[in-house]
Amino acid sequence: MPRRRPALAVSAALAAVLIGASPASAGPVGNAGVGDPYFPLAGNGGYHVAHYDLTIGYDPGRKHLDGRAVLTARATQDLTRFNLDLTGLKVTGLTVDGRKAAYRRSGQELVVTPPRALRKGQPFKVAVAYNGTPGPVTDPDGSPDGWIPTDDGAFVAGEPQGAMTWFPANNHPLDKSAYDFTLTVPQGRTAVANGVLTGRWTRNGRTTFRWHQPEPMAAYLATATVGTFKVRQYTTKSGIKVYDAIDPREANAAEPVTRQLPAVLEWASRLFGPYPYRAAGSIVDRAPQVGFALETQTRPVYDRAPSLSTLVHETAHQWFGNSVSLTSWKEIWLNEGFATYASWLYAEQHGGDSAQKTFDAQYARPASDGLWAFPPGNPGSGAHIFGQPVYTRGAMTLHALRKAVGDRAFFRILRAWADQHRDDHGTTAQFQRLAERTSGKNLGPLFRTWLYTAGKPKLS
Ligand code: ARG
Ligand code: ZN
Repeated sequence: MPRRRPALAVSAALAAVLIGASPASAGPVGNAGVGDPYFPLAGNGGYHVAHYDLTIGYDPGRKHLDGRAVLTARATQDLTRFNLDLTGLKVTGLTVDGRKAAYRRSGQELVVTPPRALRKGQPFKVAVAYNGTPGPVTDPDGSPDGWIPTDDGAFVAGEPQGAMTWFPANNHPLDKSAYDFTLTVPQGRTAVANGVLTGRWTRNGRTTFRWHQPEPMAAYLATATVGTFKVRQYTTKSGIKVYDAIDPREANAAEPVTRQLPAVLEWASRLFGPYPYRAAGSIVDRAPQVGFALETQTRPVYDRAPSLSTLVHETAHQWFGNSVSLTSWKEIWLNEGFATYASWLYAEQHGGDSAQKTFDAQYARPASDGLWAFPPGNPGSGAHIFGQPVYTRGAMTLHALRKAVGDRAFFRILRAWADQHRDDHGTTAQFQRLAERTSGKNLGPLFRTWLYTAGKPKLS
């Protein structure tokens, strides 16, 4: 959840040149972006990455990263050339299927020309060796995003663009992949990524951590957070492997909350259907310059001790956002509206305010309030994707839906949404169709009013 509301910045011009869109060379080339309206250069066209194997060494003292990324991919069109997203850092070698490939850098685009053209459907492996001093990019809303150095390591969270600050990626949620991480840090520090810890050893004063994330994951949800942490590992009654890494300076405030994770997972599973992953946990890493938490897959990262409501929010994202992914950043309400409403539901079912009461309190805000500044289904630019209307009016949209279809149909819709789109993608249009099929109601006016109409909606 964002805690800070930075001054709105002007978004990157949509007119950004799509390198690769007009090829200078002969033959088909992959587009420089997947066509996201807010982030035109995010992701790349022409291939799908099935698996990332990331081997990363980080020295917090020198702030130096040594990386090797092996991408197992498949061409979705004929390709004489394709792009990866990578910003900063120095590429020292690049092969495609083991043979040296030509490459050049152009802004965030790493343009690769394989020695032999790839045919549609062809599997291929790209290996990139790289190193340097990673740092965050600044998002259109002013937030740091990506590899964010801290006093004892790095806070690593990449929504929406930051993955490319620490590994070469097809950096858009449209492309989801399995991941393996091999992270090496000075002995005494811990390096935490997504999924299950599969190995850990110390040699010559350095400790290596191996992490395995088999279920598909969008690049922005990857982490490799490094710090001095108190680690707690256990398995829940339902067999989920929990790994908590807590900054000792935050432990007193954090532990009473992070210890509730198994109960929150159980509660959410009853409401939304089975937890999509086999691993879970929390990373609490004091990072005063960050200003947000992120639902990094299986193991959210918090820049300070979270409130229980924030823990519920990031946990709900595992279903809504992580398992069911966006196809476009414009539809971010499908992530943030759902996670916010989950925390309203949690309060309602644990002796707090009812969702109706929370809705009413928000609805009471005057028409001039920032809550009504833009409709959540159309934030207008990347600068607004984490704005209040996306979170709060997004949640209000779900409450309006619940009122319109009744509790039985509403909770069936939420479960069916998580189930039918598990480890995949979902769009607002698909959600509306599902809600209409389940309830037997025409919900066009409701979605139009709450998601797409400017100004404070009238209550019908
Ligand atoms: N998705 C995060 C959350 O749970 C917020 C990330 C904010 N990122 C940013 N660049 N402003 O709410
Ligand atoms: Zn969120």
